[in-house]
Amino acid sequence: MVFEQFTIGGCLSYLVGCPETSQGVLIDPEIRLLDRYTAQAARDGLRIKYLIDTHTHADHFSATKEMAQQLGVPVVMHRASPAPFASLRVDDGDMLIVGTLRLRMLHTPGHTRDSISIVVEDRVFTGDALLIGGTGRTDLPSGDPDQLYESLFEKLLKLPADTLVYPAHDYKGRTHSTIGAEISGNPRLQKTGREDFTEMMRHLNLSAPTHLTEALRTNMTGGKTITQLLSEAAASVAFMDMDELASRVAARPNDMIILDVRERDAFQAGHIPGATHLPRGQLELRVNEMLPDPTLRIVVYCEIGRISTLAAATLRELGFSRATALDGGMKAWREQGKQVEAG
Ligand SMILES: [Fe+2]
Repeated sequence: MVFEQFTIGGCLSYLVGCPETSQGVLIDPEIRLLDRYTAQAARDGLRIKYLIDTHTHADHFSATKEMAQQLGVPVVMHRASPAPFASLRVDDGDMLIVGTLRLRMLHTPGHTRDSISIVVEDRVFTGDALLIGGTGRTDLPSGDPDQLYESLFEKLLKLPADTLVYPAHDYKGRTHSTIGAEISGNPRLQKTGREDFTEMMRHLNLSAPTHLTEALRTNMTGGKTITQLLSEAAASVAFMDMDELASRVAARPNDMIILDVRERDAFQAGHIPGATHLPRGQLELRVNEMLPDPTLRIVVYCEIGRISTLAAATLRELGFSRATALDGGMKAWREQGKQVEAG
């Protein structure tokens, strides 16, 4: 079996493959590692056949939808998943065939209603149901301590003691465990009675994960993260360096429009000399009147450099094929002591 473990910010993901048939599967891919997965699969001689999310993640951004579009393969999730892009829905006891490998699905709800664990040969991918020295929390949307109790004590812990455990998270750099080691050493599993266990889970008082709302929004709906939206815009435009623009401003060329897309107050307080003001919120409404010549070179800037990237991408879509975004924004322009015009 080909086996690769990836780690980023405490999130663990896995590439598992059959060397005889060159078929592979990715488990819990994270958006920032998207290129690494495809590169690693190529290095291992694998074609990814399935993308699996063990559950609706609330603490990281899943790459399954994006990769499914790139690779033309299904996203596998439990039947109860809210994600509209989960195209291959599975039930407890279902099996996926990946070359000579058999992936057995266990429904292990509790951390979320749609949690699955995946048994492959000598190991189990437990998602966030069972962690190394811990369990998934049950206080996030669709979590349920009673269901987690059953998933752990009536399913996962009944696997052979030497089964290797590969969870979806570990914040201490550990790579894996075994069912036996968790039964004997995992502090959360020492309360073996249902009442004691659920009582403990209800009183953990954990703080909410960072990016909770954005992760749930994107993982549940297939919508984009803000980072994705910005990087897609950035990939569709060219940029201009601040020194380059400063030297062009100093030379006073009139072959270029410098477009300030901030709000009026900010523009009046100080802008790049010669800049034209067109706030981002009015861009589409006033573009025809203010920018009648689509062949002109346009450099868009804002305060930080993000809104200007979106605005430049919009201008390109509208046909302004020479729209560029300033690499940086008015804040950096001021900090570098470059020339500012007020009024
Ligand atoms: Fe999770």
